[in-house]
Amino acid sequence: MSEPVAFTDIYVDESIVDRVTDVLRSERYVKGPMVEQFESAFADFCETDHAVGVASGTDAIYLALKAAGIGPGDDVLVPAHTFFASVSPVVELGANPVFVDIDPVTYTMGALDLEEKVADADNPQAVVPVHIYGHPAEMHSIANVARKHGLTLVEDCCQAHGATYRGDPVGSFGDAGCFSFYPSKNMTVAGDGGMLVTDDDDLAAEARAMRNHGRDDTGEHVRLGLNHRLSELHAAVGFEQLEHIDDWNQQRRDAARRYNDRLSDVSSVKAPNERSDVEHVYHLYVVHVADRDDLQETLEADGIETGIHYETPVHQHPAIRRHLDTIPSLTRTETLTDRILSLPMHPRITDEEIDRVCAAIERHYEE
Ligand SMILES: Cc1ncc(COP(=O)(O)O)c(C=O)c1O
Repeated sequence: MSEPVAFTDIYVDESIVDRVTDVLRSERYVKGPMVEQFESAFADFCETDHAVGVASGTDAIYLALKAAGIGPGDDVLVPAHTFFASVSPVVELGANPVFVDIDPVTYTMGALDLEEKVADADNPQAVVPVHIYGHPAEMHSIANVARKHGLTLVEDCCQAHGATYRGDPVGSFGDAGCFSFYPSKNMTVAGDGGMLVTDDDDLAAEARAMRNHGRDDTGEHVRLGLNHRLSELHAAVGFEQLEHIDDWNQQRRDAARRYNDRLSDVSSVKAPNERSDVEHVYHLYVVHVADRDDLQETLEADGIETGIHYETPVHQHPAIRRHLDTIPSLTRTETLTDRILSLPMHPRITDEEIDRVCAAIERHYEE
């Protein structure tokens, strides 16, 4: 068997090790200057006024919705073709998830279905589009619907650091944008971490207080809150990783182009689409095939790692079903789940590795 092809990899260099060592020696591990520096650099990166470092992407979504006042009795419009954590904060807050089907081209939230679902909802209060796989959702139409119906707009950017829609970075369109720094993401803090970005001074202040036991600048507990803080050590890694993100995203885009070229002759494989007005950052490179399980088995036997994102749409998970009066039927989402396969993708994947994956796919369909 040839060399295995890894699905993803993680970058650690001397500057990261040095920065982490400095923090270790500083003995300041929480609520220190490193989180502030990372927040300031990340707000610049997203072109927003504020960035609030938190313990995970899930926490960022939870705090954004909570700071916007979302709670029991509110309907929140969400996609089902996403990771569980785009939706679980809605349910944790006692609000009702209202599921929107996908756009068949980009697999992001479908703007037309959003219009219909908002019109049918009893008490629509918020919408959470997800820039799934690194492809920005159709923010122009989604923001219009949000504006027209007075919905809070929270972007789930957990897979899309640095992606742009009509020239502007994701995270800068909504009332808040939420990022994850989980190890497999386009950039990481080498552990769990997240960031909430916003231009709204009040929302930022609420989120800052809520991540730290509801304390304000005077140290008084002015509201309830838990501990959702980002640690100094993780912020140090994130700060250094941010230096590289634009290059890494370009390398992912180059890898995607090579996959697209190589796969263009394989008629059984549909490569991912990229709208002309976005810059996709290929957190995942996901192909669409009729015999997904067979292809995955072939690649695995050849030492090529793949993934499925996601096998079960969120509205079909038991923990969510139990909160729904009726289980919605989302035809496009549901037909997608057994046809998608994520191929190896990361900034350091080599041309030879991509060619090896594509050759294995070609052989699979020739046989
Ligand atoms: C689309 C999406 N939303 C939310 C999350 C949650 O982020 P975290 O794992 O940092 O809590 C993730 C990542 O895991 C994700 O991919």
